[in-house]
Amino acid sequence: MSLIEVAHLGRLAANAGPSTLIELGRERGGSTLVLATAMARAATLHSFDPQSKLPQLGDRFDSKLGEAFARYGLADRVHLSREDSQTVEPLAGHYAIVLVDGDPSLEGTRSDFERFCLQLQPGGHALFHDAAPGDPRQLTLKPLMAEIERDGRFARRPDVGTFIEFQRLPGD
Ligand SMILES: C[S@@+](CC[C@H](N)C(=O)[O-])C[C@H]1O[C@@H](n2cnc3c(N)ncnc32)[C@H](O)[C@@H]1O
Repeated sequence: MSLIEVAHLGRLAANAGPSTLIELGRERGGSTLVLATAMARAATLHSFDPQSKLPQLGDRFDSKLGEAFARYGLADRVHLSREDSQTVEPLAGHYAIVLVDGDPSLEGTRSDFERFCLQLQPGGHALFHDAAPGDPRQLTLKPLMAEIERDGRFARRPDVGTFIEFQRLPGD
Protein backbone atom coordinates (compact mmCIF):
# COMPACT_ATOMS: atom_id res chain seq x y z
CA MET A 1 0.00 0.00 0.00
CA SER A 2 1.37 3.44 -0.89
CA LEU A 3 1.85 6.22 1.67
CA ILE A 4 -1.12 8.21 0.37
CA GLU A 5 -3.31 5.10 0.69
CA VAL A 6 -2.04 4.41 4.22
CA ALA A 7 -2.72 8.03 5.23
CA HIS A 8 -6.23 7.90 3.77
CA LEU A 9 -7.07 4.58 5.42
CA GLY A 10 -5.79 5.86 8.77
CA ARG A 11 -7.82 9.06 8.50
CA LEU A 12 -11.03 7.17 7.68
CA ALA A 13 -10.45 4.77 10.58
CA ALA A 14 -9.74 7.63 13.01
CA ASN A 15 -12.94 9.43 11.94
CA ALA A 16 -15.15 6.32 12.07
CA GLY A 17 -15.82 6.57 15.81
CA PRO A 18 -17.01 3.61 17.92
CA SER A 19 -17.88 1.22 15.12
CA THR A 20 -17.08 -2.07 13.39
CA LEU A 21 -14.34 -2.10 10.76
CA ILE A 22 -13.89 -4.97 8.32
CA GLU A 23 -10.74 -5.97 6.45
CA LEU A 24 -10.88 -8.58 3.68
CA GLY A 25 -7.30 -9.64 2.87
CA ARG A 26 -4.46 -8.80 5.30
CA GLU A 27 -1.42 -10.85 4.19
CA ARG A 28 1.46 -9.49 6.35
CA GLY A 29 -0.89 -7.14 8.17
CA GLY A 30 0.26 -3.72 6.97
CA SER A 31 -3.27 -2.42 6.45
CA THR A 32 -4.43 -4.28 9.58
CA LEU A 33 -1.91 -2.30 11.66
CA VAL A 34 -2.99 0.99 10.10
CA LEU A 35 -6.68 0.37 10.76
CA ALA A 36 -6.15 -1.02 14.27
CA THR A 37 -3.85 1.72 15.50
CA ALA A 38 -5.90 4.56 14.00
CA MET A 39 -9.40 3.43 15.00
CA ALA A 40 -11.29 4.90 17.95
CA ARG A 41 -10.94 3.37 21.43
CA ALA A 42 -14.37 1.74 21.30
CA ALA A 43 -14.05 0.47 17.71
CA THR A 44 -13.37 -3.13 16.73
CA LEU A 45 -11.62 -4.54 13.68
CA HIS A 46 -12.43 -7.91 12.13
CA SER A 47 -9.88 -9.07 9.58
CA PHE A 48 -10.41 -12.11 7.34
CA ASP A 49 -7.71 -13.92 5.36
CA PRO A 50 -7.23 -17.66 4.88
CA GLN A 51 -3.61 -16.79 3.97
CA SER A 52 -4.06 -18.58 0.68
CA LYS A 53 -1.44 -16.41 -1.04
CA LEU A 54 1.46 -17.47 1.20
CA PRO A 55 0.17 -20.52 3.12
CA GLN A 56 3.60 -21.48 4.45
CA LEU A 57 4.10 -18.02 5.98
CA GLY A 58 0.56 -17.09 7.00
CA ASP A 59 0.87 -18.58 10.47
CA ARG A 60 4.04 -16.63 11.09
CA PHE A 61 2.50 -13.34 9.91
CA ASP A 62 -0.60 -13.85 12.02
CA SER A 63 1.23 -14.84 15.18
CA LYS A 64 3.62 -11.85 14.90
CA LEU A 65 0.67 -9.57 14.27
CA GLY A 66 -1.22 -11.03 17.23
CA GLU A 67 1.82 -10.41 19.45
CA ALA A 68 2.03 -6.80 18.25
CA PHE A 69 -1.65 -6.18 19.04
CA ALA A 70 -1.19 -7.70 22.49
CA ARG A 71 1.74 -5.32 23.11
CA TYR A 72 -0.40 -2.34 22.03
CA GLY A 73 -3.32 -3.43 24.23
CA LEU A 74 -5.46 -4.02 21.15
CA ALA A 75 -5.85 -7.80 21.31
CA ASP A 76 -9.44 -7.68 22.53
CA ARG A 77 -10.56 -5.30 19.77
CA VAL A 78 -8.70 -6.78 16.78
CA HIS A 79 -9.93 -10.16 15.56
CA LEU A 80 -7.68 -11.99 13.12
CA SER A 81 -9.67 -14.68 11.37
CA ARG A 82 -8.30 -17.29 8.95
CA GLU A 83 -11.71 -17.71 7.39
CA ASP A 84 -12.46 -17.01 3.74
CA SER A 85 -14.50 -13.87 3.11
CA GLN A 86 -16.64 -15.76 0.58
CA THR A 87 -17.79 -18.41 3.04
CA VAL A 88 -17.56 -16.90 6.53
CA GLU A 89 -20.86 -15.83 8.07
CA PRO A 90 -20.73 -12.00 7.95
CA LEU A 91 -20.99 -10.39 11.37
CA ALA A 92 -24.37 -9.09 12.38
CA GLY A 93 -24.81 -5.32 12.43
CA HIS A 94 -23.49 -2.53 10.31
CA TYR A 95 -19.95 -1.51 9.47
CA ALA A 96 -18.18 1.84 9.18
CA ILE A 97 -15.41 0.67 6.82
CA VAL A 98 -14.97 -2.34 4.57
CA LEU A 99 -11.49 -2.66 3.05
CA VAL A 100 -11.71 -5.01 0.05
CA ASP A 101 -8.21 -6.34 -0.64
CA GLY A 102 -8.63 -10.13 -0.78
CA ASP A 103 -9.56 -12.30 -3.77
CA PRO A 104 -8.54 -10.11 -6.73
CA SER A 105 -10.94 -11.69 -9.26
CA LEU A 106 -14.11 -10.00 -10.43
CA GLU A 107 -16.26 -12.77 -8.92
CA GLY A 108 -14.39 -12.67 -5.58
CA THR A 109 -14.59 -8.90 -5.36
CA ARG A 110 -18.28 -8.96 -6.25
CA SER A 111 -18.87 -11.48 -3.48
CA ASP A 112 -17.03 -9.24 -1.00
CA PHE A 113 -19.15 -6.29 -2.11
CA GLU A 114 -22.43 -8.15 -1.82
CA ARG A 115 -21.65 -9.95 1.45
CA PHE A 116 -19.96 -7.10 3.33
CA CYS A 117 -20.28 -3.69 1.64
CA LEU A 118 -24.07 -3.94 1.51
CA GLN A 119 -23.93 -3.99 5.33
CA LEU A 120 -22.22 -0.61 5.55
CA GLN A 121 -23.93 1.90 7.78
CA PRO A 122 -25.10 5.20 6.22
CA GLY A 123 -21.94 7.24 5.67
CA GLY A 124 -19.79 4.09 5.80
CA HIS A 125 -16.95 3.58 3.34
CA ALA A 126 -16.17 0.73 0.93
CA LEU A 127 -12.56 0.82 -0.24
CA PHE A 128 -11.45 -1.29 -3.20
CA HIS A 129 -7.68 -1.58 -3.33
CA ASP A 130 -5.84 -1.83 -6.68
CA ALA A 131 -9.01 -0.81 -8.50
CA ALA A 132 -8.40 2.74 -9.73
CA PRO A 133 -7.33 3.72 -13.26
CA GLY A 134 -3.62 3.08 -13.69
CA ASP A 135 -3.61 -0.15 -11.68
CA PRO A 136 -3.34 -3.39 -13.71
CA ARG A 137 -6.40 -4.82 -11.92
CA GLN A 138 -8.53 -1.86 -13.00
CA LEU A 139 -9.85 -3.52 -16.16
CA THR A 140 -10.90 -6.65 -14.25
CA LEU A 141 -12.88 -4.65 -11.70
CA LYS A 142 -14.19 -1.96 -14.04
CA PRO A 143 -17.62 -3.58 -14.68
CA LEU A 144 -18.27 -3.98 -10.94
CA MET A 145 -17.12 -0.42 -10.16
CA ALA A 146 -19.47 0.87 -12.88
CA GLU A 147 -22.35 -1.18 -11.44
CA ILE A 148 -21.80 0.20 -7.94
CA GLU A 149 -21.56 3.70 -9.33
CA ARG A 150 -24.98 3.24 -10.95
CA ASP A 151 -26.40 1.73 -7.75
CA GLY A 152 -28.41 4.43 -6.03
CA ARG A 153 -27.24 3.26 -2.58
CA PHE A 154 -23.64 4.47 -2.95
CA ALA A 155 -21.83 7.67 -3.92
CA ARG A 156 -18.41 7.43 -5.51
CA ARG A 157 -15.77 9.48 -3.73
CA PRO A 158 -12.56 10.72 -5.37
CA ASP A 159 -9.99 7.97 -6.00
CA VAL A 160 -7.00 7.92 -3.63
CA GLY A 161 -3.93 6.17 -5.05
CA THR A 162 -5.27 2.85 -6.30
CA PHE A 163 -8.33 2.99 -4.01
CA ILE A 164 -11.79 3.34 -5.48
CA GLU A 165 -14.04 4.46 -2.65
CA PHE A 166 -17.81 4.45 -2.29
CA GLN A 167 -19.80 5.92 0.56
CA ARG A 168 -23.08 4.38 1.63
CA LEU A 169 -25.98 6.80 1.33
CA PRO A 170 -28.82 6.97 3.85
CA GLY A 171 -31.86 4.81 3.03
CA ASP A 172 -32.23 1.19 1.91
C1 LIG B 1 -2.87 -7.92 -1.47
S1 LIG B 1 -2.89 -9.02 -0.09
C2 LIG B 1 -3.56 -8.01 1.21
C3 LIG B 1 -2.62 -6.90 1.62
C4 LIG B 1 -3.05 -6.14 2.85
N1 LIG B 1 -4.43 -5.65 2.76
C5 LIG B 1 -2.13 -4.94 3.06
O1 LIG B 1 -2.33 -3.91 2.41
O2 LIG B 1 -1.22 -5.02 3.89
C6 LIG B 1 -4.22 -10.08 -0.52
C7 LIG B 1 -4.58 -11.10 0.53
O3 LIG B 1 -5.90 -11.54 0.25
C8 LIG B 1 -6.04 -12.84 0.73
N2 LIG B 1 -7.23 -13.46 0.16
C9 LIG B 1 -7.39 -14.06 -1.04
N3 LIG B 1 -8.64 -14.55 -1.14
C10 LIG B 1 -9.29 -14.24 0.02
C11 LIG B 1 -10.60 -14.46 0.52
N4 LIG B 1 -11.52 -15.12 -0.21
N5 LIG B 1 -10.92 -14.00 1.76
C12 LIG B 1 -10.01 -13.30 2.49
N6 LIG B 1 -8.75 -13.07 2.07
C13 LIG B 1 -8.39 -13.52 0.85
C14 LIG B 1 -4.71 -13.50 0.33
O4 LIG B 1 -4.45 -14.64 1.16
C15 LIG B 1 -3.71 -12.37 0.54
O5 LIG B 1 -3.07 -12.48 1.78
